[in-house]
Amino acid sequence: MSIISYKNGKLHMESIALENIAEKYGTPVYCYSTEQLADNYHAYQKAMRDVTTDDKFTICYACKANSNQAVIKMLGRLGAGMDVVSGGEMLRAFKAGIKPEKIVFSGIGKNENELTKAIKNGILQINVECESELGMISKIATQEGKKVQIAFRINPDVNAKTHAKITTGLRENKFGIDIQTAPKLYAKAKEMPGIVPTGVAVHIGSQLTELEPFAEAFKRVAALVVELREQGHLITTVDVGGGLGITYKDETPPEISQYAALIRDIILPLKVHVIMEPGRYIAGNAGVLLTRVLHIKEGQGKKFMIVDAAMNDLMRPSLYDAYHPIIPCNEPGNKSLKVVYDVVGPVCETGDTFLTDAEFPKMETGGLLAIMVSGAYGAVMSSNYNSRPLVPEVLVSDEQFDLIRKIQKTEDLVNNDLIPEWLA
Ligand code: LLP
Repeated sequence: MSIISYKNGKLHMESIALENIAEKYGTPVYCYSTEQLADNYHAYQKAMRDVTTDDKFTICYACKANSNQAVIKMLGRLGAGMDVVSGGEMLRAFKAGIKPEKIVFSGIGKNENELTKAIKNGILQINVECESELGMISKIATQEGKKVQIAFRINPDVNAKTHAKITTGLRENKFGIDIQTAPKLYAKAKEMPGIVPTGVAVHIGSQLTELEPFAEAFKRVAALVVELREQGHLITTVDVGGGLGITYKDETPPEISQYAALIRDIILPLKVHVIMEPGRYIAGNAGVLLTRVLHIKEGQGKKFMIVDAAMNDLMRPSLYDAYHPIIPCNEPGNKSLKVVYDVVGPVCETGDTFLTDAEFPKMETGGLLAIMVSGAYGAVMSSNYNSRPLVPEVLVSDEQFDLIRKIQKTEDLVNNDLIPEWLA
């Protein structure tokens, strides 16, 4: 029985009927399954354990995918480290009990304040994106009397064959250091006070559903490690970046064991410690966004199902034309009448559309739906657009479920605005 499936006609997450969560906390509401999160993490871990002999790898969950502290905490308990990209994510990781020596700091534009926090706390590694950042790290490390282990994030100029907005490893993308000029920067870094260049990092994009771009990027990284070692650098870590893509519609990503075999064949012969930063693979299919039908509207040759979740709650469809399956929480009968709807949210933009021309059983006002595969890059990317409160989040564990993000009241949201005295 799958972790999110119909039981007795009702959609369940683990042992909880999702309608119970909707009734208790209202809609829209994000729900995450601890069991699915753990299964995904363990699948990654097992695949790597199968190809390594001495656990020379650290899975640093990319918490940008879902940074709720309850999620971080439960993954941390399983042994996960964290990949953070801001001072805010770093704080969440610390608060959720992740040890600094399991935290990697990535990100294209780190500021002095964030770097100081990372350095003072002695995190595992900072993935450096440019020479100016290197200078800033050296200055702070010297002030703090610390030695900081850094990796340069390499831009290998490899096409990840994913959506243009989440492609990061092409020369024209803002990310990383050109692989050709990297040796010069390593030589420079080695001479700088407070800096120990011990790693090479790469991340060519997200939602990769083929192995070939990973293979190409890993080969270029491996060749660089060999070259750097010939030049006298002690390279001890390779950070292979984000994880495998997942299935939203009909994508057929490779098995995690095939991905691990690539690392075995290309990276492990270098005898380095491997850092991995999967986000989507861990959190994506562990979450759903529950939403209720507000109105059914008959248009010209169209039927619109207007639901209470919107683009501000789950941006992926409007931002990347991403597909998320939507299913009713009441199991449709075999003989139920099929109706074609556009599923749209209440925000005043045509882009606020979740599905176009999708078949459903006949739906009515109040009907409950689950927007599937919404555990990664869902709640974290939500906003208050149209003065809509942020959606609460709920964590399910077998027969229990609890709120893991406070319900934001409209009044709280509105009361955050300040009126200057001269306008009062
Ligand atoms: N490491 C780095 C340096 C990254 O930039 C990312 C994602 C990851 C790891 C995690 O990648 P994953 O395993 O999740 O593929 N908002 C977009 C995705 C943006 C990904 C940004 N970086 C979406 O909803 O599709």
